[in-house]
Amino acid sequence: MGMIEQFVGPGGEPFRIFFAPGRVNLIGEHTDYTGGYVFPAALDCGTWVAVRPSADGRFRFFSTGFAQQVECTADELAYRPEDGWSNYPKGVVWHLCAQGVELPGCELIYHGNIPNGAGLSSSASITLATAYALSALADSGMSKIDLIKLAQRVENEYLGVNCGIMDQFAVGMGKAGQAMLLRCQTLEYRYVPLALGDYRLVIINSNKRRELAESKYNERRAECEEGFRIVQAHLPHRADLGSVTVDEWESVRQHIPSAVIRNRLEHVVRENDRVQRSAEALVQGDLHTFGHYMKESHQSLRQLYEVSGKELDALVEAAAQVEGCIGARMTGAGFGGCTVNLVHHAQIDEFRRRVEESYRGATGLTPEFYFCEIGDGVREIDREAESCPF
Ligand code: GLA
Repeated sequence: MGMIEQFVGPGGEPFRIFFAPGRVNLIGEHTDYTGGYVFPAALDCGTWVAVRPSADGRFRFFSTGFAQQVECTADELAYRPEDGWSNYPKGVVWHLCAQGVELPGCELIYHGNIPNGAGLSSSASITLATAYALSALADSGMSKIDLIKLAQRVENEYLGVNCGIMDQFAVGMGKAGQAMLLRCQTLEYRYVPLALGDYRLVIINSNKRRELAESKYNERRAECEEGFRIVQAHLPHRADLGSVTVDEWESVRQHIPSAVIRNRLEHVVRENDRVQRSAEALVQGDLHTFGHYMKESHQSLRQLYEVSGKELDALVEAAAQVEGCIGARMTGAGFGGCTVNLVHHAQIDEFRRRVEESYRGATGLTPEFYFCEIGDGVREIDREAESCPF
């Protein structure tokens, strides 16, 4: 029996298949919600969803990764904690309906290969795959950018996660072999080829559970807002913290009485500057400078923004010891999750062996290594032409 029939039995209307990737952020962390710059890329792992209209107008959500199956009518789409994982797609249905999209009831079957909770945007991958699939099914005419904004609203308003727009944008707009330099305030962006020459991107999962991540995330956002209110009184022409230059910041930083808030803004302003310089270094083919900014970014997230942690620091330190590793930093929200590393291809085995040994020694945890390629953003899958788990 095929993967689809095991959930809905044989026969009935054919399914259409859609895919949305995960993402890795190369540099520009905790800058998106200040309107600043980020530099993410889409991965080649992600979430597939098979979808078709249901015969009875009901919504049914199935997953190969979670035993729980959820069924509801269009009037029962409100968030319910007991609905677990299906709140992600339910939130999308709810927001599409709220925007006036006329959806038939649907059967949706999910399959994914992004490690959950690793900070590689498995949730943005599910919501965007769903939004794109349902919008196509309903022929809604919504653009990718509309769907990206909708997926962010699902996180912010339906799921109560106060995230910025980086993850949804990267998952939506990714292109194979390219990173995206995005200005979050305006959504202006450009693709930059990720020409790494002899180097490879290696993602390492700390396998540390992300505790308190959400409350700390919201706390950092609030600190940035508080700091920016003071900054703006002195720089009235600046509408968002993300557009404050390093020079401007240096002329106003003394007005912020709290050392903690000063540190938070110091990180954001300098990180924004680093993102733009990093993209430029990559365009110039200067990978060593790119790697150097990655390391600076990590130190700033560790010391000024305080969103790293013992495990991520141990991974980055272990990586930096290995010859051939020219850049290493935490990626995503922090407090656990993954690091991203730039490693010479000839050193990868040695890198893996030494980082694993040293990380185990420091934390007692076993890291996982991912050698993902940079892939395309959300799309419909042609089962004849592309590999597909369904
Ligand atoms: C999470 C959020 C993003 C972004 C990063 C930190 O991934 O979802 O919006 O804020 O953290 O850079």
